Amino acid sequence: MHLEIYFYIAASILFILGIKGLARVKTARRGNGIASLGMLVAILGVLIEAKLLNWPLLLTGLVVGTAIGVLLAKRVAMTAMPELVAAFNGLGGGASALVAIAVLFGIPAEMSLSDYGAMQAISLPAGILIGTATLTGSAVAYMKLGGKNVAHPVKGPTRNLVHAAIVLAIIGCSAWMAMSSGSASAIIAMLLVLALSAVAGVFLVTPIGGADMPVVVALLNSLSGIAASASGFVVSNQLLIVAGALVGASGLILTQIMCKAMNRSLGNVLIGGVGDDNVAEDARDYTNIKSTSGEEVAMLLDGATSCIIVPGYGLAVAQAQHTCAELAKELQKRDVQVRYAIHPVAGRMPGHMNVLLAEADVPYEELWEMDKINPDFQNTDVVIIVGANDVVNPLAREPQGSPISGMPILDVDYAQTVVMIKRSLSPGYAGIKNPLFENDNTLMLFADAKEALQSIVDEVKDL
Ligand code: TAP
Repeated sequence: MHLEIYFYIAASILFILGIKGLARVKTARRGNGIASLGMLVAILGVLIEAKLLNWPLLLTGLVVGTAIGVLLAKRVAMTAMPELVAAFNGLGGGASALVAIAVLFGIPAEMSLSDYGAMQAISLPAGILIGTATLTGSAVAYMKLGGKNVAHPVKGPTRNLVHAAIVLAIIGCSAWMAMSSGSASAIIAMLLVLALSAVAGVFLVTPIGGADMPVVVALLNSLSGIAASASGFVVSNQLLIVAGALVGASGLILTQIMCKAMNRSLGNVLIGGVGDDNVAEDARDYTNIKSTSGEEVAMLLDGATSCIIVPGYGLAVAQAQHTCAELAKELQKRDVQVRYAIHPVAGRMPGHMNVLLAEADVPYEELWEMDKINPDFQNTDVVIIVGANDVVNPLAREPQGSPISGMPILDVDYAQTVVMIKRSLSPGYAGIKNPLFENDNTLMLFADAKEALQSIVDEVKDL
C-alpha cells in the first residue's frame, strides 16, 4: 500500500469522529477541532501522493483562500451566517465541477470518455451536473436568504414539463459527452451539460418558500458532498470519495431532521410555497394586547422561582445573546432556576440559537431541547420569549389551515406568565397571525431585544 493511503484512512476516521462530535452541543467544538485535524492529515496525504506539484500555484491558492476565509469569518454578521453557509456550499459544488471539467480537457483528442470505463463515463458528467447545479442553486439561496425575491419564470403545470425536458436534455448531452471522440464535440457537449445544469440549479431553488430556505441550504450542502464524491471517482482519489460521501450523507440526515421538526416532507418543501414572502392579510390585526415594561417584568421575576428563556431569530438580529446571558446570571444569583428552550428550527439555520448562546458562554446544561422542556412549561412562573414567533405560535396545533399547521412548537402558553419581547406586532417568517399575543397570560414588551433585556437587567439589579 502506498504511504498516502494510511493518511487517507486516518483522515477519514478523524472526519467520522469529527461529525460524531458535531452532533452534540457539548462536544461540537471538539468535533470541529478533530475534523480540522483530519483535513490537515488529508492535505499531507495529497502532498505525498502528488508527485509533480506546482508549488507556486499551490501556495498562491493557499494564501488567497486563507485570506478570503479569515476575512469572511471575521466580518460576517451572525444574522448573515445562513448566507455564508449557502455561499460555501455553492463554492464547494463549483470546485467539484471544475475538477471534472479539467479532467475532460486532459483527455487526448483521439479518445472518448467511455474509453476510460463506465465509472468515468458516469461520474464525470455527474460531477459537472451536481456541482454546477449546487453552485447556481446556492447563489439563488444566497439571494433569497438576503431578502431578494427570485421568482421562477415558468408558472403552473408547464413548470414540471420544463423541468422534465431539462433533465432529459442533460442525460442526452451527458451521453454525447461520454461517447464523443475528438475534443471539439466532447467540449461542446460538456458546455451544454454545464449550461443546462446551471439552469437546473436555479429552477430547483426558485420555487421554494422563504421559511424553507434553511432546509434547502442543508440539501445543497448534501449535494456539494455528492458532487465532491463524484469528482473523487473522476480523479480516482479515495479520500475525496469518502469525504464527499460523509458530507452528502450527513447533509441529507440534517435535511431530514429539519423537515421532521417542521412536520413537512422533503417533497413538500421542494414544491415550495410555505412562507413564500407572503404576509397574511390579518397578520397584524389584534385587539387584546397588553404591553409591559422592563420594570414590570423585573417585578414579575422578583416573585418567580423558575424562568424559561425562548430565543428566536430576533435575538440574532439584535445580537442580544450576551445581555440575555447577563439576565440569566442575575436571576440565578437570586435563586431563580433559568433554562433556555431551544426549538430545532428557531432562527434561520440549523443550530443558530446554540451557536449564539455558546458565543455568550451559556453553559450547555442550561440549553434544553423542545421535547425535553415542553412538559415543564406548565410548572414555570415566567417565560421570556426573545425575538421568537413562529416556533411558539399555537396555530401550529391546528391540524390544518395555516402554513405552520402540524409543526411542533414550544408550549410556552402553558406557563403562568409569558413575556414576549419583539419590536412590533409584525408576524414571523411564516407571515401569519400569532394568537399568543392576545392570550390573557401574555405581556408584550415592544422593543429591540437587546434594549429590552438590558432594561430588565438594570431593573433586576435595582430590586
Ligand atoms: P420568526 O418566526 O421569524 O420570528 C422572529 C421575530 O423576531 C419576528 O416576529 C420579529 O418581530 C422579531 N424580531 C426581529 N428583529 C428583532 C429585534 N431586533 N428585536 C426583537 N425582536 C426582533 O423566528 P423564529 O420563531 O425563530 O422562527 C424561525 C422560522 O424560520 C420558523 O418559521 C421556522 O419554521 C423557519 N425555519 C427555520 C429553520 C432553521 S434551520 N432554523 C428551518 C426552516 C424554517 P418584530 O419585527 O416585531 O420585531
